[in-house]
Amino acid sequence: MPTTDQRVAIVTGAARGIGAATAVRLAAQGRAVAVLDLDEDACADTVGRIREAGGTATAVGCDVSDEAAAQAAVARVADELGAPVILVNNAGVLRDNLLFKMSTTDWDTVLGVHLRGAFLMSRATQKHMVDAGWGRIVNLSSSSALGNRGQVNYSAAKAGMQGFTKTLAVELGKFGVTANAVAPGFIATDMTKATADRVGMGFEEFKTAAAGQIPVRRVGEPEDVAGAIAFFTDDASGFVSGQVLYVAGGPLD
Ligand code: NAI
Repeated sequence: MPTTDQRVAIVTGAARGIGAATAVRLAAQGRAVAVLDLDEDACADTVGRIREAGGTATAVGCDVSDEAAAQAAVARVADELGAPVILVNNAGVLRDNLLFKMSTTDWDTVLGVHLRGAFLMSRATQKHMVDAGWGRIVNLSSSSALGNRGQVNYSAAKAGMQGFTKTLAVELGKFGVTANAVAPGFIATDMTKATADRVGMGFEEFKTAAAGQIPVRRVGEPEDVAGAIAFFTDDASGFVSGQVLYVAGGPLD
């Protein structure tokens, strides 16, 4: 059985961006981290950064929206690293469009990765947390949960993540498991760069425009979100559950 410091964490979508920063951050705290993403080879960079710093990590290829793949991935992590008791549901995709132009496929893809993926990964992992009498689930919501033009699919998924989180907190609390959500505002990653590309703006110009609307006058970095996620996964955070923390450089309506 791993000691407290060696608890095993799964971070989905950890090949890059917020997930990669979170995996590195949790590993620096002594967690053994399963770096999970669609393509196992794409996880090599994150795993390498963790190992170079003396941490423990393994790459896992998995589409979180695939039921059998999610179950197999969790079983593999339990086998290779030990029972996973920390789960960060971070994997995500955008398929933005205005409602009248949005395809059913784009709706299903976004709901499938964020909501179905978080459900499948949480269901597969909870047994290990319940058995251990300790667990931490952190779900990635978004400021878009409050509504955002061109994102009916994404905002529905990210608002759904909040309800999902609160119900996990209610159901799993008696087993020593907390569930919380982090809802980032604008974070500089490949995801926001793709949005800049889509609207025909350079990324620097796009970030500067966004920063002007943010009280702290800068956009967020992946490490800003990783810090908030790390707080929720901490041993000392066991009385914090069912919360949604906006990490957006200021208050949101
Ligand atoms: P990103 O696009 O840089 O990284 C997302 C990762 O998820 C990629 O490595 C991708 O391969 C992986 N992924 C996608 N579909 C997957 C699947 N089916 N199974 C496994 N992995 C999959 O995105 P970023 O910016 O790091 O976002 C991370 C999370 O934070 C997402 O849930 C996103 O919606 C959320 N978020 C991001 C914000 C931002 O401004 N960047 C703001 C609010 C929320």
